[in-house]
Amino acid sequence: MAGLAQTKQKNLFSSVQEEISAFDSRLLNEISPSSKSLCTILQGIFKAGGKRLRPALSFLFYKALNQEQKCSEDCFLVAEISELIHTASLVHDDIIDNSLVRRGQPTTNSRWDNAVTVISGDFMFARAAVNLGKIGHNGITSLFASVLENLCDGEISQVEKKFSTEVDWDYYYDKTYKKTASLFEAACLAPAIDASEEIKEACKEYGRNLGLAFQVYDDILDFTADEKTLGKPKFADLSEGQITIPVLLTLEKLEGSEEHKVLVSKIRELSASSDNKKIILGIIEIIKSAKGIEGSIKIAEDLINKAKASIEIIPDSIYKEDLINIADFVVNRNS
Ligand code: FPP
Ligand code: MG
Repeated sequence: MAGLAQTKQKNLFSSVQEEISAFDSRLLNEISPSSKSLCTILQGIFKAGGKRLRPALSFLFYKALNQEQKCSEDCFLVAEISELIHTASLVHDDIIDNSLVRRGQPTTNSRWDNAVTVISGDFMFARAAVNLGKIGHNGITSLFASVLENLCDGEISQVEKKFSTEVDWDYYYDKTYKKTASLFEAACLAPAIDASEEIKEACKEYGRNLGLAFQVYDDILDFTADEKTLGKPKFADLSEGQITIPVLLTLEKLEGSEEHKVLVSKIRELSASSDNKKIILGIIEIIKSAKGIEGSIKIAEDLINKAKASIEIIPDSIYKEDLINIADFVVNRNS
């Protein structure tokens, strides 16, 4: 992770920094499969960083809702479940997207063959299931079981729609909820699983909107970020044929115009060409002139405002302040 993002993040959820440190050391020291290569892979992945946003959300909601009590063992297990599911899905996603660099490090699939990479991801999913067994709470088990189903469903519908200029907003939000927001939602809802319906709804709404905004901003960073800070190649989504939010917004805005036809034919060309630099530059020009990035930023900010509004009913505390900080960070980050 690059310097600035790291500094910014240090103060981002300072109220649960102690829990995050304990969480990190559990992640590095307590997951030790007997296979040496699996150990090496997992250590490499966890040491490469990551924002630890999902675990932080679980710790923050737990403390905000439980009169600042120390986080329970179940809360640590929940935090681990969401980080493991998140990390495993990225390991699998990097195979699907053919990605060679993540978090500034070579991806698992670039160092090992696909069989080993798939099983490393599977191991993390399995470990998450072991944790669910340890917690032994039906509500939490079905919550994360649905997340796993959603992740697969969302990812496959994204694969199906590659290079398709026929996609609409229902597709975009459904796919984005499933592949990204459902895990954020679960990380926020799990610590509140036995709370009142009203509180549960607040946690859910916050997580869902934050997760949607997170993915929308991720789509934006593919166009705007500095590659080194981002830790992965720029325009990767576009070259893979993903119809991300700036592309979707531009297609919608230009509907019926000559420029729309040009954009559609460039996206088609992209799917047939291996040397696509010039086509990508052409697409970027069209998106820029249609203000596709600005429009996408506005959508992300609206989602963040909804997330913040949904936790108004939660009592004020330093933990709630950090939930607000995280929401603001999601649409002001550079990686
Ligand atoms: C990153 O998206 C990928 C995800 C958020 C989810 C991927 C889900 C799977 C691979 C299915 C998981 C499988 C099981 C068994 C549950 P991105 O490509 O937009 O982000 P990136 O630019 O960081 O790669
Ligand atoms: Mg990817």
